[in-house]
Amino acid sequence: MAKPRATRVERVVMENVRVKTLVFDLELEAQPGQFIMLWLPGVDEKPFTLSYMPKVGVSVARVGTFTQRLHEINEGEMLGVRGPYGHGFRLLGEKVCMVAGGVGAAALAPLAETLKASGAKITTILGAKSASELLFERRFLACGEVSVCTDDGSKGKKALATTLFLELLERRDFDAVYACGPELMIYEVARLCEERGIKMQAAIERYMKCGIGICGSCVLDGYRVCVEGPVFDGKTLLRSEEFASVRREHSGRLVRI
Ligand SMILES: Cc1cc2nc3c(=O)[nH]c(=O)nc-3n(C[C@H](O)[C@H](O)[C@H](O)COP(=O)(O)OP(=O)(O)OC[C@H]3O[C@@H](n4cnc5c(N)ncnc54)[C@H](O)[C@@H]3O)c2cc1C
Ligand code: FES
Repeated sequence: MAKPRATRVERVVMENVRVKTLVFDLELEAQPGQFIMLWLPGVDEKPFTLSYMPKVGVSVARVGTFTQRLHEINEGEMLGVRGPYGHGFRLLGEKVCMVAGGVGAAALAPLAETLKASGAKITTILGAKSASELLFERRFLACGEVSVCTDDGSKGKKALATTLFLELLERRDFDAVYACGPELMIYEVARLCEERGIKMQAAIERYMKCGIGICGSCVLDGYRVCVEGPVFDGKTLLRSEEFASVRREHSGRLVRI
């Protein structure tokens, strides 16, 4: 296994009330949707999507001990970085829709920028619990049209991202759809695309330890999410018995989603 390279945090950006971006003094050749492993010596090592590339940035939502420690990192401090790992998004489509829920926007923002640069027309549905948790609205606006929705109605429509997506599908044609966010949201987006014969891909999460296909902790119905994923096409996710149903904890125990 490659050793983590000691990498300096060049810049820290507060994106919203829950998410900070760490920009590293590092450039990597990577595809949108790929991830890196971040190592905090004496704490743990965990996976994060590249939210900026080729200059590497990751956008971290504070949810527990490790991410709290990442939020305490100051500019100039060092972290261990391994990767990039996994399969990223295949770049498809000229009329493209992004469905981003919460911190899922971190994987889709660099994808939207890459597709926009290749001439695609991008429409984004950006959802969050509330206005204060919306992520990268300005980056998506720079790529095309954006419809915002929040659970509490504090910005945009008070609706689920999937409701807005269905409304959009009734008015517009898309030849590719990309999703990242809560698993039940991804499942519904995949189902709606399958019904209409639209190509769909999503970046998903499973508990990861090694990040390179050795330990088996991230397995989803026989796929190692760290190697064969984290991006899968909609058909594969809809065929899966585990997706949007169960996930493994640190101990390997399966728990209901
Ligand atoms: C491929 C991939 C990309 C990710 N990208 C991002 C990202 O861009 N931004 C972001 O904020 N989060 C991302 N995550 C999730 C991030 O790894 C977890 O939020 C983080 O590890 C939580 O650690 P914690 O100690 O703060 O919280 P904990 O209290 O340990 O856990 C909180 C939740 O995070 C999940 N989690 C904990 N450890 C891991 C692990 N080793 N692997 C996967 N999930 C874990 C668990 O499901 C748990 O429910 C990604 C996960 C994966 C698998
Ligand atoms: S994290 Fe070890 S096999 Fe995927």
